[in-house]
Amino acid sequence: MFPDKILTFVGIFFMGKILVTGGCGFIGSHTIVDLVENGYEVISADNNSRSNPNVMEGIAQITGKKVKNYKVDLCNYDDTFAIFQENDDISGIIHFAAYKAVGESVEQPLLYFENNLLSLINLLKCVQEFRIPHFVFSSSCTVYGEPDEIPVTEKTVPKPAASPYGYTKQMSEQIINEFSKTAGNKNILLRYFNPAGAHPSAIIGEMPLGKPQNLVPVITQTAIGRIPKMMVFGNDYPTRDGSNIRDFIHVCDLAHAHTLALRNLEQDRQPEACKVYNLGTGNGITVLEAIHAFEKVSGTRLNYEIGPRRPGDIVAIYANNDLARTALGWNPRYSLEEIMATAWKWEQRLKADETVFGSQDGELN
Ligand code: WQD
Repeated sequence: MFPDKILTFVGIFFMGKILVTGGCGFIGSHTIVDLVENGYEVISADNNSRSNPNVMEGIAQITGKKVKNYKVDLCNYDDTFAIFQENDDISGIIHFAAYKAVGESVEQPLLYFENNLLSLINLLKCVQEFRIPHFVFSSSCTVYGEPDEIPVTEKTVPKPAASPYGYTKQMSEQIINEFSKTAGNKNILLRYFNPAGAHPSAIIGEMPLGKPQNLVPVITQTAIGRIPKMMVFGNDYPTRDGSNIRDFIHVCDLAHAHTLALRNLEQDRQPEACKVYNLGTGNGITVLEAIHAFEKVSGTRLNYEIGPRRPGDIVAIYANNDLARTALGWNPRYSLEEIMATAWKWEQRLKADETVFGSQDGELN
């Protein structure tokens, strides 16, 4: 940890303010905590259309610092521009704000293309206008589609996306790549595998809007009784137990990777204008193994049944994370069991504290 501390000490003297878009969201909020704990001054821009503003109080409770959130729709250029006019010391942007529900994107493709691409373009126009040196983008392993070989490296050629959501991530990467050729700044694209778990304090965590789609919140909501019985979408895949294989990465490990990515840019360690990194553990876990890990950690029996395959699901994917380890000094620490334990502790907190976060069944209040 010593080198890290030195970097924090050195960093404090050279760091400007970081703008985190989507700062009230799952990964955004955990990243703000990590940034603040590593000496950064942070502001957030989140219109709370898909997130709960109370999260900023949770961040303050954990860090002891109040982080200002600008309740701005990044699809509105003038409102986005105004954030930079008010904060002329922004030295880096981490861009999380986007819609991310695969199924919804299939039903409403234009909503996804407009929201996810227009907000990015408005931000990049401000990067250009205000000469912001560092830009980190929240991408996803979904850009790979169904890989021919696993684990996937950053050189694995992406397949056609399986959903409009996946296309917005592929197109966003291409937009940033092309922008970086003339922008004169430095850009990093972080491809997350399956983010899961919660901050160990259980003060912040994942807050799915309405019925969750992702596996881990479905597991914890089933265990706590909000979902009567969960479905395993298929056990007839060509894998060791027939269920899909994924790479579950703890949200705090993911968050710290963003701090390291910024440091990498601040210390001018990236010659390339734009660079991609995989953020996964490198361990492929099947859906049934994840369920059994949860049952072991929580001491509960999960009520699930095997159902039909879910359209759009890929058979298996997990990361080769060598590049993030060597270039960013990233070393994911949390185990699958810790992912499940922190997710479970958070779910139990949500149930106990519906007053703070409102009912998880309806819209966020
Ligand atoms: C994981 C596995 C399901 C729910 C998506 C996005 C990706 C990223 C993470 C944002 C699959 C199975 C799930 C359930 C199940 N998001 N499952 N029963 O689809 O791998 O990735 O979320 O960046 O970009 O594509 O995640 O959690 O939905 O599914 O059996 O009730 O769990 O079939 O095999 P996915 P997931």
